[in-house]
Amino acid sequence: MKRPFAEMASIGVAVPPGVLTNADLTRMLDTSDEWIVERTGIRERHIATPEQSVAMLSREASEKALERAGLTARDLDAIVLGTASPDRLLPSTACDLQALLGADNAAAFDIAAACPGFIFATAVAEGLIASGQSETVLVVGAEKLSTITDFQDRSTAILFGDGAGAAIVRRASGTNGRGILSTFIKSDGKLAPLLYRPGGGSSDPISEQVVCNRSHYMKMAGREVFKAAVLAMAEAFDEALQRAGVSADEIDLLIPHQANIRIIEATAKHAGMPMNKVMVNVDRYGNTSSASIPLALARMSSEGLLPSGEPVLLFGYGAGLTYAAQVVTAP
Ligand code: ACO
Repeated sequence: MKRPFAEMASIGVAVPPGVLTNADLTRMLDTSDEWIVERTGIRERHIATPEQSVAMLSREASEKALERAGLTARDLDAIVLGTASPDRLLPSTACDLQALLGADNAAAFDIAAACPGFIFATAVAEGLIASGQSETVLVVGAEKLSTITDFQDRSTAILFGDGAGAAIVRRASGTNGRGILSTFIKSDGKLAPLLYRPGGGSSDPISEQVVCNRSHYMKMAGREVFKAAVLAMAEAFDEALQRAGVSADEIDLLIPHQANIRIIEATAKHAGMPMNKVMVNVDRYGNTSSASIPLALARMSSEGLLPSGEPVLLFGYGAGLTYAAQVVTAP
Protein backbone atom coordinates (compact mmCIF):
# COMPACT_ATOMS: atom_id res chain seq x y z
CA MET A 1 0.00 0.00 0.00
CA LYS A 2 1.28 3.48 -0.90
CA ARG A 3 2.38 5.86 1.86
CA PRO A 4 0.03 8.87 1.66
CA PHE A 5 1.20 12.47 1.93
CA ALA A 6 -2.31 13.96 2.45
CA GLU A 7 -5.25 12.83 4.56
CA MET A 8 -8.93 13.60 4.95
CA ALA A 9 -9.04 14.64 8.59
CA SER A 10 -12.80 15.15 8.93
CA ILE A 11 -16.02 15.49 7.02
CA GLY A 12 -19.25 17.47 7.43
CA VAL A 13 -22.48 17.70 5.48
CA ALA A 14 -25.57 19.87 5.13
CA VAL A 15 -28.86 18.79 3.61
CA PRO A 16 -31.83 21.16 3.32
CA PRO A 17 -34.86 19.82 5.23
CA GLY A 18 -37.32 20.25 2.33
CA VAL A 19 -38.16 16.90 0.66
CA LEU A 20 -39.61 16.31 -2.82
CA THR A 21 -40.99 12.77 -3.11
CA ASN A 22 -41.80 10.76 -6.21
CA ALA A 23 -45.47 11.21 -5.31
CA ASP A 24 -44.94 15.01 -5.43
CA LEU A 25 -43.40 14.66 -8.90
CA THR A 26 -46.34 12.65 -10.21
CA ARG A 27 -48.52 15.69 -9.51
CA MET A 28 -46.24 17.85 -11.69
CA LEU A 29 -45.20 15.48 -14.48
CA ASP A 30 -46.33 12.48 -16.52
CA THR A 31 -44.37 9.94 -14.47
CA SER A 32 -44.88 7.37 -11.72
CA ASP A 33 -43.20 6.21 -8.52
CA GLU A 34 -42.78 2.73 -10.08
CA TRP A 35 -40.97 4.11 -13.17
CA ILE A 36 -38.64 6.31 -11.12
CA VAL A 37 -37.78 3.61 -8.56
CA GLU A 38 -37.27 0.90 -11.18
CA ARG A 39 -35.10 3.03 -13.53
CA THR A 40 -33.16 5.03 -10.94
CA GLY A 41 -33.68 3.73 -7.38
CA ILE A 42 -34.63 7.26 -6.26
CA ARG A 43 -37.59 7.73 -3.86
CA GLU A 44 -37.05 11.29 -2.66
CA ARG A 45 -34.59 14.17 -2.86
CA HIS A 46 -33.94 17.26 -0.72
CA ILE A 47 -34.66 20.68 -2.19
CA ALA A 48 -33.30 23.97 -0.83
CA THR A 49 -35.37 27.09 -0.26
CA PRO A 50 -34.42 30.35 -2.03
CA GLU A 51 -32.62 31.47 1.18
CA GLN A 52 -30.54 28.26 1.36
CA SER A 53 -27.80 29.19 -1.11
CA VAL A 54 -24.92 26.93 -2.14
CA ALA A 55 -22.64 29.09 0.02
CA MET A 56 -24.97 28.75 3.03
CA LEU A 57 -25.20 24.95 2.68
CA SER A 58 -21.42 24.85 2.25
CA ARG A 59 -20.96 26.96 5.39
CA GLU A 60 -22.99 24.51 7.48
CA ALA A 61 -21.06 21.50 6.13
CA SER A 62 -17.69 23.29 6.49
CA GLU A 63 -18.27 24.39 10.08
CA LYS A 64 -19.01 20.77 11.04
CA ALA A 65 -15.84 19.56 9.27
CA LEU A 66 -13.73 22.28 10.94
CA GLU A 67 -15.12 21.49 14.38
CA ARG A 68 -14.52 17.76 13.95
CA ALA A 69 -10.92 18.44 12.95
CA GLY A 70 -10.44 20.79 15.94
CA LEU A 71 -9.70 23.74 13.65
CA THR A 72 -11.04 27.24 13.09
CA ALA A 73 -11.66 28.90 9.72
CA ARG A 74 -8.53 31.01 10.22
CA ASP A 75 -6.44 27.80 10.05
CA LEU A 76 -7.42 27.28 6.39
CA ASP A 77 -4.84 28.01 3.69
CA ALA A 78 -7.22 27.30 0.81
CA ILE A 79 -10.86 26.61 0.00
CA VAL A 80 -11.52 24.56 -3.14
CA LEU A 81 -15.21 24.23 -3.95
CA GLY A 82 -16.61 21.92 -6.62
CA THR A 83 -20.03 22.89 -7.95
CA ALA A 84 -22.10 22.74 -11.10
CA SER A 85 -24.66 25.17 -9.68
CA PRO A 86 -22.75 28.18 -8.32
CA ASP A 87 -24.78 30.88 -6.57
CA ARG A 88 -23.48 33.46 -9.05
CA LEU A 89 -21.28 33.26 -12.13
CA LEU A 90 -18.99 35.89 -10.61
CA PRO A 91 -17.32 35.76 -8.13
CA SER A 92 -16.81 32.14 -7.13
CA THR A 93 -19.06 30.54 -4.50
CA ALA A 94 -15.83 29.66 -2.67
CA CYS A 95 -15.18 33.38 -2.10
CA ASP A 96 -18.69 33.82 -0.68
CA LEU A 97 -18.05 30.81 1.56
CA GLN A 98 -14.72 32.27 2.66
CA ALA A 99 -16.49 35.47 3.75
CA LEU A 100 -19.23 33.53 5.59
CA LEU A 101 -16.66 31.42 7.45
CA GLY A 102 -14.22 34.27 8.15
CA ALA A 103 -11.43 32.21 6.59
CA ASP A 104 -9.26 35.31 6.22
CA ASN A 105 -5.99 33.48 5.51
CA ALA A 106 -7.25 31.32 2.64
CA ALA A 107 -7.16 31.44 -1.14
CA ALA A 108 -10.65 30.50 -2.37
CA PHE A 109 -11.80 29.31 -5.77
CA ASP A 110 -14.34 27.05 -7.49
CA ILE A 111 -13.74 24.21 -9.86
CA ALA A 112 -16.29 23.07 -12.42
CA ALA A 113 -16.04 19.29 -12.73
CA ALA A 114 -19.71 18.36 -12.14
CA CYS A 115 -20.43 15.15 -10.20
CA PRO A 116 -16.85 14.03 -9.46
CA GLY A 117 -16.14 17.65 -8.40
CA PHE A 118 -15.36 16.57 -4.82
CA ILE A 119 -12.63 14.19 -6.02
CA PHE A 120 -11.28 16.78 -8.50
CA ALA A 121 -11.21 19.38 -5.67
CA THR A 122 -9.39 16.90 -3.43
CA ALA A 123 -6.82 16.37 -6.21
CA VAL A 124 -6.24 20.14 -6.28
CA ALA A 125 -5.87 20.15 -2.48
CA GLU A 126 -3.30 17.36 -2.68
CA GLY A 127 -1.39 19.40 -5.27
CA LEU A 128 -1.45 22.52 -3.07
CA ILE A 129 -0.11 20.48 -0.16
CA ALA A 130 2.53 18.69 -2.26
CA SER A 131 3.83 21.98 -3.65
CA GLY A 132 4.11 23.50 -0.18
CA GLN A 133 1.53 26.17 -1.01
CA SER A 134 -0.91 24.94 1.67
CA GLU A 135 -1.00 22.78 4.78
CA THR A 136 -4.74 22.74 5.45
CA VAL A 137 -7.36 22.86 2.70
CA LEU A 138 -11.14 22.92 2.92
CA VAL A 139 -12.57 20.81 0.09
CA VAL A 140 -16.28 21.28 -0.63
CA GLY A 141 -18.77 19.67 -3.00
CA ALA A 142 -22.03 21.62 -2.93
CA GLU A 143 -25.05 21.93 -5.16
CA LYS A 144 -28.43 23.52 -5.59
CA LEU A 145 -29.29 21.52 -8.71
CA SER A 146 -32.99 22.30 -8.23
CA THR A 147 -32.24 25.75 -9.70
CA ILE A 148 -30.81 24.37 -12.96
CA THR A 149 -33.28 21.48 -13.32
CA ASP A 150 -36.21 21.83 -15.70
CA PHE A 151 -39.24 20.66 -13.73
CA GLN A 152 -41.16 20.38 -17.00
CA ASP A 153 -38.69 17.76 -18.33
CA ARG A 154 -39.54 14.35 -16.85
CA SER A 155 -36.29 12.80 -18.08
CA THR A 156 -34.19 15.00 -15.74
CA ALA A 157 -36.58 16.46 -13.12
CA ILE A 158 -36.79 13.14 -11.29
CA LEU A 159 -33.04 12.79 -10.79
CA PHE A 160 -31.52 15.70 -8.95
CA GLY A 161 -31.36 17.03 -5.38
CA ASP A 162 -29.55 19.64 -3.28
CA GLY A 163 -26.90 19.32 -0.56
CA ALA A 164 -23.31 19.99 0.48
CA GLY A 165 -20.34 18.08 1.85
CA ALA A 166 -17.00 19.40 3.12
CA ALA A 167 -13.74 17.77 4.14
CA ILE A 168 -10.56 19.00 5.75
CA VAL A 169 -7.62 17.78 3.68
CA ARG A 170 -4.21 18.25 5.29
CA ARG A 171 -0.70 16.86 5.22
CA ALA A 172 -0.80 13.26 6.41
CA SER A 173 0.46 12.78 9.95
CA GLY A 174 1.55 9.26 9.06
CA THR A 175 0.56 8.07 12.54
CA ASN A 176 -3.24 7.84 12.54
CA GLY A 177 -3.81 5.38 9.68
CA ARG A 178 -5.61 8.00 7.60
CA GLY A 179 -4.61 8.95 4.11
CA ILE A 180 -5.43 9.58 0.47
CA LEU A 181 -3.67 6.65 -1.18
CA SER A 182 -4.42 7.59 -4.79
CA THR A 183 -6.45 9.94 -6.93
CA PHE A 184 -7.29 9.47 -10.59
CA ILE A 185 -9.06 12.27 -12.52
CA LYS A 186 -9.83 12.41 -16.23
CA SER A 187 -12.19 14.05 -18.72
CA ASP A 188 -13.52 13.45 -22.22
CA GLY A 189 -14.71 16.80 -23.56
CA LYS A 190 -15.99 15.21 -26.77
CA LEU A 191 -18.89 13.93 -24.67
CA ALA A 192 -19.96 17.39 -23.46
CA PRO A 193 -23.18 17.34 -25.56
CA LEU A 194 -24.47 14.41 -23.50
CA LEU A 195 -25.12 16.63 -20.49
CA TYR A 196 -24.98 20.40 -20.64
CA ARG A 197 -26.70 23.74 -20.15
CA PRO A 198 -26.93 25.30 -23.62
CA GLY A 199 -27.88 28.85 -22.61
CA GLY A 200 -27.01 31.45 -20.01
CA GLY A 201 -23.22 31.40 -20.41
CA SER A 202 -21.13 33.78 -22.52
CA SER A 203 -21.74 31.83 -25.76
CA ASP A 204 -25.50 32.38 -25.43
CA PRO A 205 -25.97 35.01 -22.75
CA ILE A 206 -29.13 35.10 -20.71
CA SER A 207 -31.96 36.63 -22.74
CA GLU A 208 -35.71 36.39 -23.09
CA GLN A 209 -35.18 33.76 -25.77
CA VAL A 210 -32.90 31.64 -23.57
CA VAL A 211 -35.55 31.69 -20.84
CA CYS A 212 -38.44 31.00 -23.27
CA ASN A 213 -36.53 28.05 -24.76
CA ARG A 214 -35.68 26.84 -21.24
CA SER A 215 -32.11 26.42 -22.49
CA HIS A 216 -30.65 27.64 -19.17
CA TYR A 217 -31.63 24.26 -17.69
CA MET A 218 -29.69 20.98 -17.89
CA LYS A 219 -30.25 18.83 -20.98
CA MET A 220 -29.23 15.20 -20.83
CA ALA A 221 -29.01 12.21 -23.14
CA GLY A 222 -29.53 9.81 -20.22
CA ARG A 223 -28.97 6.50 -21.99
CA GLU A 224 -25.68 7.69 -23.54
CA VAL A 225 -24.47 9.10 -20.20
CA PHE A 226 -25.28 5.72 -18.67
CA LYS A 227 -23.10 3.85 -21.19
CA ALA A 228 -20.22 6.34 -20.93
CA ALA A 229 -20.37 6.18 -17.12
CA VAL A 230 -19.95 2.40 -17.09
CA LEU A 231 -16.90 2.59 -19.40
CA ALA A 232 -15.37 5.46 -17.42
CA MET A 233 -15.83 3.57 -14.19
CA ALA A 234 -13.85 0.58 -15.38
CA GLU A 235 -10.87 2.77 -16.38
CA ALA A 236 -11.01 4.91 -13.21
CA PHE A 237 -11.16 1.91 -10.88
CA ASP A 238 -8.26 0.10 -12.40
CA GLU A 239 -6.07 3.24 -12.40
CA ALA A 240 -6.93 4.29 -8.84
CA LEU A 241 -6.27 0.81 -7.46
CA GLN A 242 -3.00 0.46 -9.33
CA ARG A 243 -1.77 3.90 -8.18
CA ALA A 244 -2.67 3.05 -4.57
CA GLY A 245 -0.91 -0.31 -4.77
CA VAL A 246 -4.11 -1.97 -3.60
CA SER A 247 -5.96 -4.90 -5.16
CA ALA A 248 -9.75 -4.97 -5.60
CA ASP A 249 -10.15 -7.67 -2.95
CA GLU A 250 -8.44 -5.44 -0.36
CA ILE A 251 -11.24 -2.86 -0.72
CA ASP A 252 -13.77 -3.20 2.08
CA LEU A 253 -16.18 -0.50 0.97
CA LEU A 254 -17.16 1.10 -2.33
CA ILE A 255 -18.68 4.58 -2.33
CA PRO A 256 -19.84 5.38 -5.87
CA HIS A 257 -21.45 8.60 -7.08
CA GLN A 258 -25.16 8.30 -6.31
CA ALA A 259 -26.86 8.88 -9.68
CA ASN A 260 -28.69 5.70 -10.53
CA ILE A 261 -28.94 2.36 -8.71
CA ARG A 262 -28.40 0.46 -11.97
CA ILE A 263 -25.06 2.24 -12.58
CA ILE A 264 -24.11 1.61 -8.94
CA GLU A 265 -24.87 -2.11 -9.39
CA ALA A 266 -22.82 -2.23 -12.61
CA THR A 267 -19.98 -0.51 -10.76
CA ALA A 268 -20.10 -3.06 -7.94
CA LYS A 269 -20.10 -5.91 -10.46
CA HIS A 270 -17.01 -4.54 -12.21
CA ALA A 271 -15.25 -4.19 -8.85
CA GLY A 272 -16.31 -7.73 -7.94
CA MET A 273 -17.93 -6.44 -4.75
CA PRO A 274 -21.19 -7.69 -3.22
CA MET A 275 -23.83 -4.97 -2.75
CA ASN A 276 -23.52 -5.21 1.05
CA LYS A 277 -20.09 -3.56 0.65
CA VAL A 278 -21.46 -0.74 -1.51
CA MET A 279 -22.83 2.48 -0.07
CA VAL A 280 -26.28 3.35 -1.47
CA ASN A 281 -28.27 6.43 -0.45
CA VAL A 282 -29.53 7.49 -3.89
CA ASP A 283 -33.02 6.50 -2.71
CA ARG A 284 -33.06 9.34 -0.16
CA TYR A 285 -31.05 12.10 -1.83
CA GLY A 286 -31.21 11.54 -5.59
CA ASN A 287 -28.24 12.80 -7.57
CA THR A 288 -26.60 15.68 -5.67
CA SER A 289 -23.67 15.87 -8.12
CA SER A 290 -20.47 17.03 -6.36
CA ALA A 291 -22.12 16.64 -2.91
CA SER A 292 -22.98 13.00 -3.53
CA ILE A 293 -19.69 11.36 -2.52
CA PRO A 294 -19.12 13.39 0.68
CA LEU A 295 -22.77 12.84 1.68
CA ALA A 296 -22.29 9.10 1.34
CA LEU A 297 -18.87 9.15 3.03
CA ALA A 298 -20.22 11.16 5.97
CA ARG A 299 -23.14 8.83 6.51
CA MET A 300 -20.84 5.82 6.67
CA SER A 301 -18.53 7.73 9.01
CA SER A 302 -21.32 8.89 11.36
CA GLU A 303 -22.70 5.35 11.55
CA GLY A 304 -19.25 4.01 12.40
CA LEU A 305 -19.26 1.92 9.23
CA LEU A 306 -15.99 3.17 7.72
CA PRO A 307 -13.49 0.37 8.24
CA SER A 308 -10.73 1.99 10.31
CA GLY A 309 -7.43 2.15 8.43
CA GLU A 310 -8.84 0.03 5.59
CA PRO A 311 -8.96 1.36 2.01
CA VAL A 312 -12.27 2.69 0.69
CA LEU A 313 -12.80 3.24 -3.04
CA LEU A 314 -14.64 6.38 -4.21
CA PHE A 315 -15.87 6.81 -7.79
CA GLY A 316 -17.66 9.61 -9.63
CA TYR A 317 -18.57 10.71 -13.16
CA GLY A 318 -20.56 13.57 -14.59
CA ALA A 319 -21.01 16.33 -17.13
CA GLY A 320 -17.92 16.92 -19.23
CA LEU A 321 -17.66 13.95 -19.33
CA THR A 322 -15.55 14.00 -16.17
CA TYR A 323 -14.65 10.96 -14.13
CA ALA A 324 -12.55 10.16 -11.12
CA ALA A 325 -11.71 7.55 -8.54
CA GLN A 326 -9.88 7.73 -5.26
CA VAL A 327 -8.63 5.29 -2.66
CA VAL A 328 -8.73 6.69 0.88
CA THR A 329 -8.48 5.40 4.40
CA ALA A 330 -11.24 6.65 6.64
CA PRO A 331 -11.74 10.25 7.73
N1 ACO B 1 -41.33 8.80 -16.19
C1 ACO B 1 -41.89 7.95 -17.09
N2 ACO B 1 -41.34 7.71 -18.29
C2 ACO B 1 -40.18 8.34 -18.59
C3 ACO B 1 -39.56 9.24 -17.71
C4 ACO B 1 -40.17 9.46 -16.46
N3 ACO B 1 -39.64 10.28 -15.53
N4 ACO B 1 -38.43 9.72 -18.28
C5 ACO B 1 -38.33 9.14 -19.49
N5 ACO B 1 -39.40 8.31 -19.69
C6 ACO B 1 -39.71 7.51 -20.85
C7 ACO B 1 -39.04 7.99 -22.10
O1 ACO B 1 -39.83 9.00 -22.72
C8 ACO B 1 -38.97 6.73 -22.93
O2 ACO B 1 -40.24 6.51 -23.50
P1 ACO B 1 -40.36 5.90 -25.00
O3 ACO B 1 -39.75 4.52 -24.92
O4 ACO B 1 -41.84 5.89 -25.22
O5 ACO B 1 -39.60 6.84 -25.88
C9 ACO B 1 -38.74 5.63 -21.90
O6 ACO B 1 -39.17 6.19 -20.64
C10 ACO B 1 -37.31 5.17 -21.79
O7 ACO B 1 -36.48 6.33 -21.68
P2 ACO B 1 -34.90 6.23 -21.51
O8 ACO B 1 -34.32 7.60 -21.42
O9 ACO B 1 -34.35 5.31 -22.55
O10 ACO B 1 -34.84 5.50 -20.08
P3 ACO B 1 -33.60 4.89 -19.32
O11 ACO B 1 -33.89 3.52 -18.91
O12 ACO B 1 -32.30 5.17 -20.02
O13 ACO B 1 -33.59 5.75 -17.96
C11 ACO B 1 -32.38 7.57 -17.00
C12 ACO B 1 -33.41 7.15 -18.02
C13 ACO B 1 -32.91 7.23 -15.62
C14 ACO B 1 -32.16 9.08 -17.09
C15 ACO B 1 -31.05 6.81 -17.22
O14 ACO B 1 -30.71 6.84 -18.58
C16 ACO B 1 -29.91 7.35 -16.43
O15 ACO B 1 -29.91 7.34 -15.20
N6 ACO B 1 -28.82 7.80 -17.10
C17 ACO B 1 -27.65 8.29 -16.43
C18 ACO B 1 -27.85 9.68 -15.96
C19 ACO B 1 -26.68 10.07 -15.06
O16 ACO B 1 -26.11 9.23 -14.40
N7 ACO B 1 -26.32 11.32 -15.03
C20 ACO B 1 -25.16 11.64 -14.17
C21 ACO B 1 -24.51 12.81 -14.51
S1 ACO B 1 -25.28 14.10 -13.66
C22 ACO B 1 -24.23 15.47 -13.60
O17 ACO B 1 -23.12 15.50 -14.03
C23 ACO B 1 -24.84 16.75 -12.98
